[in-house]
Amino acid sequence: MAKITASAFTSHVPAIGAAMDLGKTEEPYWQNVFSGYEFSRQWLKDNPPDVVFLVFNDHATAFSLDFIPTFAIGTGAEYPPADEGWGPRPVPMVHGHPKLASHIAQSVIQEDFDLTIVNRMDVDHGLTVPLSLMCGKTDAWPCPVIPFAVNVVQYPVPSGRRCYELGRAIRRAVESFDEDLNVQIWGTGGMSHQLQGPRAGLINKEWDEKFLDRIISEPEAVADMPHIEYVREAGAEGIELVMWLVARGAMGDAAGGSAPKLLHRFYHVPASNTAVGHLIMEETA
Ligand code: DHB
Ligand code: FE
Repeated sequence: MAKITASAFTSHVPAIGAAMDLGKTEEPYWQNVFSGYEFSRQWLKDNPPDVVFLVFNDHATAFSLDFIPTFAIGTGAEYPPADEGWGPRPVPMVHGHPKLASHIAQSVIQEDFDLTIVNRMDVDHGLTVPLSLMCGKTDAWPCPVIPFAVNVVQYPVPSGRRCYELGRAIRRAVESFDEDLNVQIWGTGGMSHQLQGPRAGLINKEWDEKFLDRIISEPEAVADMPHIEYVREAGAEGIELVMWLVARGAMGDAAGGSAPKLLHRFYHVPASNTAVGHLIMEETA
């Protein structure tokens, strides 16, 4: 059977992708960011998954305001990097896993989560920057990726609780797939940032660090945090953090098992307009 073996959590700041694409990673400003991912790149090489289930948000790139799915699962064979205004990032094509994705769609929709099924989609920095951070510069991503898009751009966005419960359903779906696959789930986005309006530039280090503490040790309580707290404390775009709850809900302790082992924790300010947060957790049972 397929198994979820680990989860990773990371910001997706677009300027990080640009720094990699333009060869600026050795500059001191960026070195401070990338140093937090050296462990992760080695860990991923040492623990290669068969599939990554990657929870991200589209930034009005693939989905315009004409149609806005709350949750969308990629069941296609491939996903080209999107053109976000400067041409597509020079990163490899993302290959999907249609068989596992279709099984997860079947299972999760039968559990009453209404997913939009997406067979064709360009993927923006929300998906390609986490891959770049975790995998480095490469000619080919190391494994198939199932893109799972969450609407955190246009209200109403899903609650943290909904995201957490969805993660639990995704775990059940993976565990009922009749093939031995090592599946990692990645929750991306965040941390505190506000890109427009009078509070533009807001960073809340103290709140971010507390969020990291709490998503590690009391995810159930974090799942009940209302939207207003994210927005008030972490800025309008801090709401991206609800996506971390999908990955956290897919870990064993949310299904009555033992708590995952924290392998890595990193936090750094600034990266562009954002605080970068990053965790890796491994299943223990
Ligand atoms: C920035 C961060 C984001 O999450 C995003 O989607 C766009 C820009 C930034 O920090 O500049
Ligand atoms: Fe974003």
